[in-house]
Amino acid sequence: MNTIDAIYTRRSTRGYLDKPVDKSSIERLIIAATQAPSAMNTQPWAFGVIEDKQKLQEISDHTKAYLLSILDMASALEGYREALQNPDYNIFYGAPVLIIIMAKPDASLDPKIDCSLAAQNLMLMACSLGLGTCWIGFTQVYLNTPEAKIDLGIPDGCTVVAPIIVGYPETKPITVEKNPPEILFWR
Ligand SMILES: Cc1cc2nc3c(=O)[nH]c(=O)nc-3n(C[C@H](O)[C@H](O)[C@H](O)COP(=O)(O)O)c2cc1C
Repeated sequence: MNTIDAIYTRRSTRGYLDKPVDKSSIERLIIAATQAPSAMNTQPWAFGVIEDKQKLQEISDHTKAYLLSILDMASALEGYREALQNPDYNIFYGAPVLIIIMAKPDASLDPKIDCSLAAQNLMLMACSLGLGTCWIGFTQVYLNTPEAKIDLGIPDGCTVVAPIIVGYPETKPITVEKNPPEILFWR
């Protein structure tokens, strides 16, 4: 698949086959992520991979409980209350792999920007390998809690920026229509 096809066909995947992703493909995704540009070439990213099904379920459960506990202060999430209360809702949609992109401390003025570029590289590479992805922002706040960091071995100064699930799509993802660009000036 060429870059143009990857850009135009990548869509968030929310249903996965119960099929593992081989180690070399995961490594290819991470190496593609590291090809992203970064401010002053700081390359402020670090990665974590979780394939353990029980751990993924545990993180999903903890994330849901955490989000429900802060829902009254996070009104933007109110629409998700029902889903978060549903014991059958897994925030990772049964994906076999979670890749966590973290920003390392003291590396760049705004490492979250660099890590987001790395995330897009990873998702486009996955698309070109026939893999589905979805950025799971739901778990970002939970993964940055001291409790989750200790549990996963995330160094204190690192900040989780992009938790991305990866796997073989169960069905073709819905093609979300994109709005035409709003060009505010073109002088
Ligand atoms: C920062 C960020 C956080 C997101 N968090 C979630 C999430 O927690 N759960 C989810 O199902 N999708 C999540 N998404 C996926 C978006 O819903 C999706 O990108 C958007 O609907 C556009 O669809 P597309 O990715 O298919 O183009 C997130 C995307 C981004 C960029």
